Amino acid sequence: MTEDNKNLVYVSDDIVNTGIGVVIDVQNIYKYFGDLKVLSGISCAIKKGEKVAIIGPSGSGKSTLLRCMNLLEEPTYGEVWLDASIMTPVDSYLHKSILVKSNTYKKSIVAEIKSKLGKDEKEKIKYDDAIKLVDEDTLENLSDKVLTQIKTGDLLKKREGGEFARAVKAYDVRYGVNINKARQRVGMVFQHFNLFNNLTILQNMILSPVQLKLKSKEEATDKALKLLERIGLLDKKDEYPSKLSGGQKQRVAIARALVMDPEVMLFDEPTSALDPEMVGEVLSLIKDLADEGMTMVIVTHEMGFAKEVANRVLFLDGGNIVEENTPEELFNNPKNERLKDFLSKVL
Ligand SMILES: Nc1ncnc2c1ncn2[C@@H]1O[C@H](COP(=O)(O)OP(=O)(O)OP(=O)(O)O)[C@@H](O)[C@H]1O
Ligand SMILES: [Mg+2]
Repeated sequence: MTEDNKNLVYVSDDIVNTGIGVVIDVQNIYKYFGDLKVLSGISCAIKKGEKVAIIGPSGSGKSTLLRCMNLLEEPTYGEVWLDASIMTPVDSYLHKSILVKSNTYKKSIVAEIKSKLGKDEKEKIKYDDAIKLVDEDTLENLSDKVLTQIKTGDLLKKREGGEFARAVKAYDVRYGVNINKARQRVGMVFQHFNLFNNLTILQNMILSPVQLKLKSKEEATDKALKLLERIGLLDKKDEYPSKLSGGQKQRVAIARALVMDPEVMLFDEPTSALDPEMVGEVLSLIKDLADEGMTMVIVTHEMGFAKEVANRVLFLDGGNIVEENTPEELFNNPKNERLKDFLSKVL
């Protein structure tokens, strides 16, 4: 098998997403930017209450993975689930029940089976007979050639109407959700705060929940003020972001995400744009949230923080999760050579 599909897992719809307490379920996602493959078949499940740190060299795909988790980027292949709802378009290649309805698939399998037969047998075997040889396991053992054939140019989606389209639709109806709604349940904090400079701190904080009609203006304001008080910035509510320090801006950005009552928070290097003396105040806010039970995924270069806060650390390299473990094991007893090399440079 090529590197491309060695991680392929096919999940039938009856076992999909039965993971207990899984908040975000990333299933076999690939992300291409043009020809550049940035994520290469990543699967990971974030459980309720878990704190997962993502580390890895620059360009390894950490931000892209995080952005795929809340659909700021749409994966090229694969699925992202939030609770029991699918956020990405259904990936027909992931579901046996859908895949087997496609003629492209059947023909590819038949061709594959025939290619393994001797000349005499080849002439005898009919399409219907060959189909009977296709069992559940065949799907997991598809050759690179067949997989490529199926995937190339989205043959399934483009060429096959009728039953196949109905299968995809049925799946979508059963599990699918409005992406924008689902996304509101995932809070995101960026390296560069992303506050609106032309709005006051309070206006920044209530903008989304009010616009998206998640909260009335009064409710949102009430919640925002409580959060500002909590982070010690109530007196800044009518200031513009330019009047705040980097650390203060980032704490506001975190509080802004919390106004939406997210189920999970994603942090993308929340401290790497800060002056060193401001890192502590931001990390301590994140740590408080972690201690309160917030589910979080945090991309960070702060290895000490990852050790202290995370239950689990993922090491990404070249668009793959190369190693994953508890912080103790991963930092003290790394197994993968690339991880060892990475740690020797950053620790
Ligand atoms: N929108 C985009 N268009 C084209 N290429 C992109 C885009 N976003 C990211 N990339 C490329 O994808 C690769 C992975 O980028 P990503 O930002 O996910 O890495 P990272 O691990 O977060 O790195 P860093 O530690 O520097 O933040 C890089 O080669 C990057 O240039
Ligand atoms: Mg990044």
